[in-house]
Amino acid sequence: MKNSIVRFENVEKTYGEGEGLQIAVDKVSFEIGEGEFVVILGQSGAGKSTVLNMLGGMDTPTAGKVFVDGEEISSMNDRQLGTYRADKVGFIFQFYNLIPSLTAYENIALTKRIVKNAADPKELLEKVGLLKCADKFPSQMSGGEQQRVSIARALAKNPRIILGDEPTGALDSETGVIVLELIQNMCRNEGKTVILVTHNADIAQCADKVIRMKNGKIREIKINENPVPVREVSW
Ligand SMILES: Nc1ncnc2c1ncn2[C@@H]1O[C@H](COP(=O)(O)OP(=O)(O)OP(=O)(O)O)[C@@H](O)[C@H]1O
Ligand SMILES: [Mg+2]
Repeated sequence: MKNSIVRFENVEKTYGEGEGLQIAVDKVSFEIGEGEFVVILGQSGAGKSTVLNMLGGMDTPTAGKVFVDGEEISSMNDRQLGTYRADKVGFIFQFYNLIPSLTAYENIALTKRIVKNAADPKELLEKVGLLKCADKFPSQMSGGEQQRVSIARALAKNPRIILGDEPTGALDSETGVIVLELIQNMCRNEGKTVILVTHNADIAQCADKVIRMKNGKIREIKINENPVPVREVSW
């Protein structure tokens, strides 16, 4: 593995207490190298999103430690976490989460308000092949186009890490391949560390590392010596 950029140490997330205690994530430990393409796989309720949200600084563990890029984010206060989210991580969601009243260009340009050196929205739109959609509103774009805009938005803050929660979950398989290939390229060509949550086992063969979860626990961590380029998978 290359230099470690993410480390989970016995991370736990529980909700409620006593009879109502729910263990969403149960003493999970793993490590991710810089520039790795990682897939977290598991059935509904396995704890995948909870892990991703803790990694993204949107949620905090009830026990254990999370380190990202040499910093312990699990002990950060809200203000520090806000800075962490703005500087280090880009998010891609299943349902894109674009602002409906803003154009594609404006959705990406919003990042300028959060981070100092935000990338140029035009360049990003070009990168995801959507310059032609710059002035379109989300409702005027297909699902795949909206997701590509949301990838451009995630890249706008030039994050080291990209997190995706079922980024192809709402797309047909052909469009999903286009989106997934774009995400894989961010990893392979630009050295981004990419961590995707999915219950689609087909996607796992494209990853360098597959973390399989069940009932809040890690069942298996598999290293793919020969990850398959997205284009070469028969979906
Ligand atoms: N805010 C919450 N309060 C109580 N329980 C929660 C909360 N958030 C998650 N859980 C529980 O934690 C467990 C793990 O949830 P999580 O969302 O991480 O699963 P997941 O693997 O992402 O599932 P899916 O594939 O359906 O998105 C589930 O049993 C869920 O009900
Ligand atoms: Mg989930």
